[in-house]
Amino acid sequence: MALILHVRTAREQWWQAHLQSLLPEIECRLWSQPGNLNDIRYAVVWAPPAGGLRQFKNLQFIVSIGAGIDHVLADPQLPMDVPIIRTTGAQMTQRMREYVCLHVLRLHRGLDSQIRAQSSRQWHNVISPSADQRTVGVMGLGKLGAAAAATLVELGFRVRGWARSPHDQHGVYCFSGADGLADFLSQCEILVCMLPLTAETDSILNRQLFEWLPTGAHLINVGRGEHLHEDDLLAALATGQLGSATLDVFRQEPLPANHPFWVHPAITITPHIASMIDPETGGQEIARNLQNFVAGQPVADLVDARRGY
Ligand code: GLV
Repeated sequence: MALILHVRTAREQWWQAHLQSLLPEIECRLWSQPGNLNDIRYAVVWAPPAGGLRQFKNLQFIVSIGAGIDHVLADPQLPMDVPIIRTTGAQMTQRMREYVCLHVLRLHRGLDSQIRAQSSRQWHNVISPSADQRTVGVMGLGKLGAAAAATLVELGFRVRGWARSPHDQHGVYCFSGADGLADFLSQCEILVCMLPLTAETDSILNRQLFEWLPTGAHLINVGRGEHLHEDDLLAALATGQLGSATLDVFRQEPLPANHPFWVHPAITITPHIASMIDPETGGQEIARNLQNFVAGQPVADLVDARRGY
């Protein structure tokens, strides 16, 4: 009985060693050395190559090393009857809360203009509004979105949330569905996209959405690159409809060296690091989900591949 692992090459030995120590009864094999394909019962993957998973005829389930499963569903030959378990542990939620708060606070307090002022020795002594005067919108109220929204509430922001279906969250003014979108956006000075990527959310961050935001609003995208219509973003920054964009995810990753986002003065780029899963804490989460699934116990992160998230 074996498990096959597909992760970025630089980290594959680290992952293999950890999963092997947590799951001594299962042989953990690297994608490049799969051995007998019929031994493979479980696949633990990030962005597996198209057609790769269907070679394993005895596959019982697929674990996404990530909260999103779009990188698995992107495979047109994916065996759709094989269940998928996503990975969202306490550390992942914690890292995401840190990243969202870091950038919301940076934008809220105008840190970029302070750094610019320092570079020309200017004493930029301004008073910024306090958090209770600032409205932040979170799109996507799943596990990570809800946790980030709750942390923003604790910091004192006025928080709005939007999701596909109605939600009820303490301190968060919730909106839902296509009908609630314009209303939700109308007050969001800082908008954080934490949506899953589905056919409905592809390119949702587009010209129309930007127009519904207050002029000069700031965008933070920690969802997926495909949520963002790139040309519409550049146009909205050019007119000032958007004040800035902070992007952690991109249509093409790594972001190509000649991409205009790299040098845009109003765009801050981070390389898909908002919330990474590490083999130590993430491995424990994966091993626990795997053992529960095998034992027929409930697995909270089991997802419905047909729903898409
Ligand atoms: C990372 O992007 C994830 O899906 O966890």
